Amino acid sequence: MTRLQHFGWFLARGFGPHGWGYPSLDWDYDWTKPGLYQQSARTLEQAGFDLVIIEDAPSLGSPETIDLRIRHAFGGPKHDPLLLAPYLFDATEHLGVIPTVNPAAYVPYTAARQFATLQHLSGDRLGLNVVTDTGSARHFGTAAPLGHDAAYDRAEEWLESLRLLWRSWSPEALVVDPVSGVYADGTRLDHAAHRGEYFAFDGPLNAVPFREGEPVIASPGGSGRGLGFAGANSDIQLALAPLDRDSITAYRAKIHAAAVERGRRPEDITILFAIQPALVSSAAEADRLVAASANPDEAALVQIARKQSSDLETDLTALDLDAPIPAGTFANHVSEGSIRRLIGRNDAATTPLRQILAAHARLGRLTDGSGFVGTADEFADRIEELGEWGNDGVLLWGDLHPVTVHRVLDELVPILRRRGILRREYAPGGLRANLAAF
Ligand SMILES: Cc1cc2nc3c(=O)[nH]c(=O)nc-3n(C[C@H](O)[C@H](O)[C@H](O)COP(=O)(O)O)c2cc1C
Repeated sequence: MTRLQHFGWFLARGFGPHGWGYPSLDWDYDWTKPGLYQQSARTLEQAGFDLVIIEDAPSLGSPETIDLRIRHAFGGPKHDPLLLAPYLFDATEHLGVIPTVNPAAYVPYTAARQFATLQHLSGDRLGLNVVTDTGSARHFGTAAPLGHDAAYDRAEEWLESLRLLWRSWSPEALVVDPVSGVYADGTRLDHAAHRGEYFAFDGPLNAVPFREGEPVIASPGGSGRGLGFAGANSDIQLALAPLDRDSITAYRAKIHAAAVERGRRPEDITILFAIQPALVSSAAEADRLVAASANPDEAALVQIARKQSSDLETDLTALDLDAPIPAGTFANHVSEGSIRRLIGRNDAATTPLRQILAAHARLGRLTDGSGFVGTADEFADRIEELGEWGNDGVLLWGDLHPVTVHRVLDELVPILRRRGILRREYAPGGLRANLAAF
């Protein structure tokens, strides 16, 4: 049965040089100024989207590989998405805005106060995409970076701290009675003292309580510990999985089990599956595009190698394309998961790099599950099908350049609306209320 789903946009390359490497650069937007993002945010709101999530990494990565990240702007520079959020709120009325934050970068009191301020300023539309990347540790002190699971432990303590501070004002503490002249009752504030493994502070918070609930928490981790974190804390899980019934059902079951294990209900988490759409105008064009990508030329391989070099902080462009990647190429800190994603189903010891890169350059058809090239009708079919399998929503993945946003949405939105999959109206009460509306 057709049902409404939630729609989000994932600004996948963060608040960085938009359009770099694409012909749309010549539309002359300035990526450091808010206009580009405000225009796109208004379009997303007109389209009935619940939210936009802004990817981020606070660091340019390890000192030896900074050039790999910034040379083609795949991994930086990136400005702070938290500070872009107010401009997006100002340009819209209903759209939720979810900047990515790393608990390493903010002590709990500062975080709780800044996020409370934004939640009030935005009319309850703030969310936080909480990530645990430890590669930026050196910018925040001289302590050694935490391990994978310990970083999640710290993130949990950080969120507990934020909640302790946000709840340090009981709702009755705010009196606001002009007749008696009493603004607030200090006896109803909790001192919110915390002495934990990673953080120690005293409250209460110097901010008034929320009207429509706390900022929404999102998280993208897919490891056992990452799912446990989501089960305990997240209102939204950003999910990456093949879009077939078994994968979707299994992923949802894992998150739901994690929620139940931590004393929450499955329906407390909205799961959004990421889709990186390549929309074309006809099935014949989709087939042509996929066929044309089957034998990628040298330029296409170099482009893939540059992007992977940035993500993996390892210069793949300096390696012999016709030999396997030599053992020991990747430094210890490079994520195992990212290396696995590069190699795919190939045998790393015997497969030439050319073949590994070519697999990434090849496009696939949405209709047979091999990729994301399809028409608007085909995308609507697939999203409708996801809904039939119980899915909550999707996260369309791209930059936030108006050219990209229109290319993806212009045909798709009317079809989704006609089919009753995409909302026509927003609920009052901000992001949390809109997530709970269906
Ligand atoms: C849809 C999606 C969005 C993500 N966004 C970010 C991000 O903005 N910043 C970041 O540092 N990591 C981001 N990640 C990576 C995760 O934070 C995390 O590092 C990765 O999923 C590995 O965590 P795990 O070991 O728990 O799976 C994202 C992952 C996914 C799937």
